[in-house]
Amino acid sequence: MKISTLRIVDDEAKVTVGPSIADEFKDLLRHYKLPFEVHVEDYREYIEDHLRENLRLAEDDKVGEFNFARYHPYDEILQYLRDTVERYPTLATVVNVAHTFEGRPVLAIKIGVAKNTPKRAVWMDAGIHAREWVAPATALYFIHQLVTRYGNDQTVTDLLEKLDWYIAPVINADGYIYSWSHPARRLWRKSTAYYNSTCDDGNGDPTSSCTCTGDDIGRNCTCTEPTVRNCTCLGVDLNRNWDVKWGGQIGSSTDPCSDVYKGRSPLSEPETKGVSDFILERRGAIQAYLSLHSFSQLWMSPYGYNATKIPSDYEDHVKLSAIATAAISRVHGKQYRSGRSAAILYEATGDSMDWAYDKAGIVHSYTIELRDDGWEYAFLLPPDQILPTAQEVFPAFIQVGLYVWDGP
Ligand code: ARG
Ligand code: ZN
Repeated sequence: MKISTLRIVDDEAKVTVGPSIADEFKDLLRHYKLPFEVHVEDYREYIEDHLRENLRLAEDDKVGEFNFARYHPYDEILQYLRDTVERYPTLATVVNVAHTFEGRPVLAIKIGVAKNTPKRAVWMDAGIHAREWVAPATALYFIHQLVTRYGNDQTVTDLLEKLDWYIAPVINADGYIYSWSHPARRLWRKSTAYYNSTCDDGNGDPTSSCTCTGDDIGRNCTCTEPTVRNCTCLGVDLNRNWDVKWGGQIGSSTDPCSDVYKGRSPLSEPETKGVSDFILERRGAIQAYLSLHSFSQLWMSPYGYNATKIPSDYEDHVKLSAIATAAISRVHGKQYRSGRSAAILYEATGDSMDWAYDKAGIVHSYTIELRDDGWEYAFLLPPDQILPTAQEVFPAFIQVGLYVWDGP
């Protein structure tokens, strides 16, 4: 983390600044006579408070019950998936959709009533980005609502009769685990893929190989003799690696040390390759693609790669986005903004939503940025906001199901 902007409102901005440049940054602001206030002096302490709070909540866990009101480490999420299919064997199965760089399975749960005729489906994923913990938590809550409302709630019952729901709560399992492994890694975004690159002698000729120095944020590698320079870093941004406008320069980077490193080639990563193959195998059946991220409270549609390009299904996107965001605001009054993601957030190439729309032909493809708006907590959303977040988007997901189940 050097300088990153969390939110801009009118003429005010909230930014985080790395410790090594904090004083310099303040001097710069003074120099330009820009008034500022320090909201959090020590972000490390702030992170530790956030983690402690989550840990404290674990004390209230009831045996045999999954506590949706706190964040869970990866193995507890897996256990929840296993418990759910065991409890609802006629509704839910676990499917292996990919594997991670470190060799873990990427799991999805398939929820729906088995039929002899082909069914339409909805795909939902979360946790493409490691630090966005509320996204996997929201996906788990959604799974829970589907299985427990079946037979009690007419809409959900109908939806599971008509549709299959594929829900992959943690695509970037390696990164998620990494973000849990140390407070200094809580804000890790990428995967943990690691590819040695060659160092050169300063004239472009290859020389000695990389040696890893340090194991903390980024696991930087440094070339030894004769030039000393970084040659590789940890992690690929799994939301820049998809095979859609991948070569584009906007909002993604060829630098392995960048937080938006696009990887070595389109779908070079086992996570994106596996998920994309899985979706393509169900081409035609999958009617909607939903990808959960945090934060900013946005319901975004294609395109992400170009701010001026209007997709041919734009009007349909606007219609369903309006229905979805209206459903969200009815729950706790939160207003999620909607629109084309490059226009309302920023341009970036190689994201999953654009891929699902352009390459898998899924008309209703959305990226949803959950709470908060970034002014207060950003990635460190307190656990007491998990349930409100998950509750407010639940009816929006149901609306997506209702919208696509019989087709337009
Ligand atoms: N915040 C997410 C990301 O940076 C979502 C991006 C949505 N797509 C876009 N092109 N703006 O990956
Ligand atoms: Zn994200």
